[in-house]
Amino acid sequence: ATEDSESITPSDFVVVANRLPVDLERLPDGTTRWKRSPGGLVTALEPILRSNHGAWVGWAGVADVDAGVIVEDDLTLYSVPLSTEEIADYYEGFSNATLWPLYHDVIVRPEYRREWWNVYVEVNRRFAEEAAKAAAPNATVWIQDYQLQLVPKMLRMLRPDLTIGFFLHIPFPPVELFMQMPWRTEIVEGLLGADLIGFHLPGGAQNFLYLAGRLAGHQTSRGNIGVRSKLGVVQVGFRSVRVGAFPISIASGELDEQSRSKSIRDRAKAIRKELGNPDKILLGVDRLDYTKGIDVRLDALNELLVDGRVDPSRTVMVQLATPSRERVESYVHMRGEIERMVSRINGEYAEVGRPVVHYIHRPVPREELIAFFVAADVMLVTPLRDGMNLVAKEYVACRSDLGGSLVLSEFTGAAAELRQAFLCNPHDLEDVKDKMQAAIEQPRETGRKTMRALRRQVLTHDVDRWARAFLDALSHTGAAGPALITE
Ligand code: ADP
Ligand code: G6P
Repeated sequence: ATEDSESITPSDFVVVANRLPVDLERLPDGTTRWKRSPGGLVTALEPILRSNHGAWVGWAGVADVDAGVIVEDDLTLYSVPLSTEEIADYYEGFSNATLWPLYHDVIVRPEYRREWWNVYVEVNRRFAEEAAKAAAPNATVWIQDYQLQLVPKMLRMLRPDLTIGFFLHIPFPPVELFMQMPWRTEIVEGLLGADLIGFHLPGGAQNFLYLAGRLAGHQTSRGNIGVRSKLGVVQVGFRSVRVGAFPISIASGELDEQSRSKSIRDRAKAIRKELGNPDKILLGVDRLDYTKGIDVRLDALNELLVDGRVDPSRTVMVQLATPSRERVESYVHMRGEIERMVSRINGEYAEVGRPVVHYIHRPVPREELIAFFVAADVMLVTPLRDGMNLVAKEYVACRSDLGGSLVLSEFTGAAAELRQAFLCNPHDLEDVKDKMQAAIEQPRETGRKTMRALRRQVLTHDVDRWARAFLDALSHTGAAGPALITE
């Protein structure tokens, strides 16, 4: 039900993210309906928030719509409206054509435009104001990701009573790259409004700690930051801001259970049959993003076919690609490249009614996706850079049968945990080819052993554990937290 914001009780626990967990979709006949939002942030956070009965502040995914406050059974959604121009400048511009490529190792050249920055500041202020309305006195507010890096400071100025956490879902870049950013000091200071700033990996946390000293002139702790341990500290006036590494995960237990169900098993078999009962099914599942290295795996497959190392009559690749950021130029360009590569491989190696690469440019329903994970013999996760990559973990969680193998780029956060996968360097095409071939030809017993080890990691480190580690650390910040250690 949509309600007037005056009549809503504020919450003790508030998540603030660019997107709500659901997107409002406008249908051709002018009516609207809600659908699940894309991306790993929503996958990870939605189960946490539902079990905490919290509030979620975010954008409904369409222009010029004020959906107001929506009260569901266990969740209150506060929608932040964005105009067409704000979407162009704040979302497509500064968030996805400046920050996204800068934080992903400048795979694409970031554009620094002053008008985008100005709108980013304005929109961050609007999110801060909405969060201030949603939060009860002394509430905990957890701000998410690169689109909202100024919100911690803005919100603290509006509501000094709150406990504020921030988590970055994408990589925090090397210092040399971050220094390109014309508004680097403002961003560092914006983040330092939080009590605890979380990253996936200790390396990113360490980079940030260094920059807090260098750019904002604060005193910082010296020791190495650990995984869910040994937090760094930045002394901001009288406040101690903690900095830590908290690798995110998935609801692995739930996924494991779903993947065991008869309907999913049957559907997985049916998929194999529909694909012509090949010996090996290779699978890619991604947002259509240039960071994901979809081109890398297609290149590798093409060369393996050319070299005669993979048999096109017995091997099929399925690439499920959710449309993403379709008005940003680098995404338009990459889509063209990938679709050209798919048709080229099929042009050379397909038979009528039997393509080698099946390419679906559409989000796949959750159950269907699980069935694909169960059906796939080799999962291809080859990003050039990825903060974590939940797809890799989802695949592992779905393989209770201990079947399947995982080819995983070293440049994902997940590679730090999934050490037993076929790790590859996506910049080294020979390496990717070798790992793909080894995964295709892996003996069953070795594969089972590997999958057992991977599953142990994913099942014991689920998204609940991630949220608990972060929120526990957050609750120990402020006056009660340990003081700055300066050697
Ligand atoms: P990112 O957050 O960059 O998109 P992640 O791998 O961390 O990457 O998370 C992606 C999430 O979106 C996963 O939960 C994955 O299952 C889902 N997803 C990705 N591609 C598709 C697709 N084609 N259809 C449905 N869901 C998808
Ligand atoms: C990544 C980002 C999220 C984002 C998601 C989907 O996971 O870290 O913040 O929501 O991609 O991208 P989109 O631009 O569609 O929100």
